[in-house]
Amino acid sequence: MFGAVFYFCIMANQNDQFKKVISHAKEYGYVFQSSEIYDGLSAVYDYAQNGVELKNNIRDYWWKAMVQMHDNIVGIDAAIFMHPQTWKASGHVDAFNDPLIDNKDSKKRYRADVLVEDYVGKLDAKIEKEVKKAAKRFGDAFDKEEFVSTNPRVLGYKEKGETILKRLGKSLENEDLADVKALIEELEIACPVSGSRNWTDVKQFNLMFGTKLGASADSAMDLYLRPETAQGIFVNFLNVQKTGRMKIPFGIAQTGKAFRNEIVARQFIFRMREFEQMEMQYFIKPGTQKKWYEFWKEARLKWHLSLGLGEDNYRFHDHEKLAHYADAASDIEFRFPFGFKELEGIHSRTDFDLSQHEKHTGKKLQYFDPEENKSYVPYVVETSIGLDRMFLAIFSNALQEEELDNDTTRVVLKLPSVLAPFKAAVLPLVKKDGLPEIAHKIVEDLKWEFNVMYDEKDAVGRRYRRQDAIGTPFCITVDHDTLDNETVTLRERDTMKQQRVNISDLMASIKNEVDMKSWLKRM
Ligand code: GAP
Repeated sequence: MFGAVFYFCIMANQNDQFKKVISHAKEYGYVFQSSEIYDGLSAVYDYAQNGVELKNNIRDYWWKAMVQMHDNIVGIDAAIFMHPQTWKASGHVDAFNDPLIDNKDSKKRYRADVLVEDYVGKLDAKIEKEVKKAAKRFGDAFDKEEFVSTNPRVLGYKEKGETILKRLGKSLENEDLADVKALIEELEIACPVSGSRNWTDVKQFNLMFGTKLGASADSAMDLYLRPETAQGIFVNFLNVQKTGRMKIPFGIAQTGKAFRNEIVARQFIFRMREFEQMEMQYFIKPGTQKKWYEFWKEARLKWHLSLGLGEDNYRFHDHEKLAHYADAASDIEFRFPFGFKELEGIHSRTDFDLSQHEKHTGKKLQYFDPEENKSYVPYVVETSIGLDRMFLAIFSNALQEEELDNDTTRVVLKLPSVLAPFKAAVLPLVKKDGLPEIAHKIVEDLKWEFNVMYDEKDAVGRRYRRQDAIGTPFCITVDHDTLDNETVTLRERDTMKQQRVNISDLMASIKNEVDMKSWLKRM
């Protein structure tokens, strides 16, 4: 009983925190519901004036690290519409399905695998609770590793979770949907809305959106909106390899929109129907896939860690059930406000895609390896991250409520400064005495280098709070002393420390903190 109450408290806190994230994103101009004045469109969102800056900065941070910092990786921008045969070849027409189940009482639709995974998530929460309890009991002598590998209760939860996931993986692999339903019934999983266990059978549901190309109904061609950007890379593999004279191993990267008719479309921008991916396909010699898979797992984790969101907030989840194209796959999971969930996938895709496109087009998609003196279809290791999901990871991690010394609180968005929409706000202390003119001049000078904002409305304390909530790392205040000695106050968002600096030193002081180079060098 206590366990259930504790779990409920954790979930309630998580829900509260998540609600705060969603409302802050709206209130401070980050994310709006799409077509909100028409009551919105489910799982479709618009990025607002600050959101688009953050999103662009995340994309640039990825592009710099993945494309521009590698001599052997180039980028492309393929069209969203592709020849429909692409999706037959890739397996998406036949196998890009999710198992869905309906609750007959609430009429709500769920992904059957997600219901089971959420059940296992609750076991994980119980493990965390045991760890916290023990840490409190043993104090400094607590050894977490030893505890989780020896405590009978923790081991019991772990084993139960593993057994369930193994069975789920096997049933899905064998397309045994009856067993997935049986598992849901055996675990006594109830509909969160109706509370009942009155389930339909589990059915497969294809996630691709269809559309038409052409004006007349008779001649129109059925198309799909791409469900992943990767296929745009595969079909261009030979064009890029030849025109770029690329030698294996080499990568092709792109960022762009993808579309999926998700069954369970909740959790804000975590699972959307229209979203953006940042993907890189690394073409390698067959037989070397294990080495490159491990290489990219490590490289991608390092990229995440460079942003300083906390090592404990990431973990790998190696897949039991592999997608139709993969011989190994792992997710980098992040601790979102609703628990650890997939943020990025690293997949060893073998030669599946290129071979399939060869088969369906009758064209060779091979590489002549001068060292081996032979041609082969390259293998591929892919890194694939959702830009919106990365946005949510960063945004939710950054949003904090701090108790201050004077018994007040402040809401602060501690975004990594390299990604913040505005690097600085320039604030004249008053709207007279020539201070706005100096502030405007500072804005004019700094904006060549980074995004800066001018803000003169309200008392300066309120302006600091507003910039804290937007996540602006620096505030520059122009006051009457500035008139005498050309210095300003530079206030830092996270520490709230203030120092006096010369106007001529501002550019260097801020650049040092927000420069992509210094952040990426942490990798
Ligand atoms: N090309 C491989 C691929 O698309 P995936 O695991 O289906 O693999 C990769 O997707 C990443 O795309 C995920 O890790 C996630 O970050 C993001 N993603 C997938 N579906 C999404 C959705 N409906 N909404 C937002 N992001 C999504």
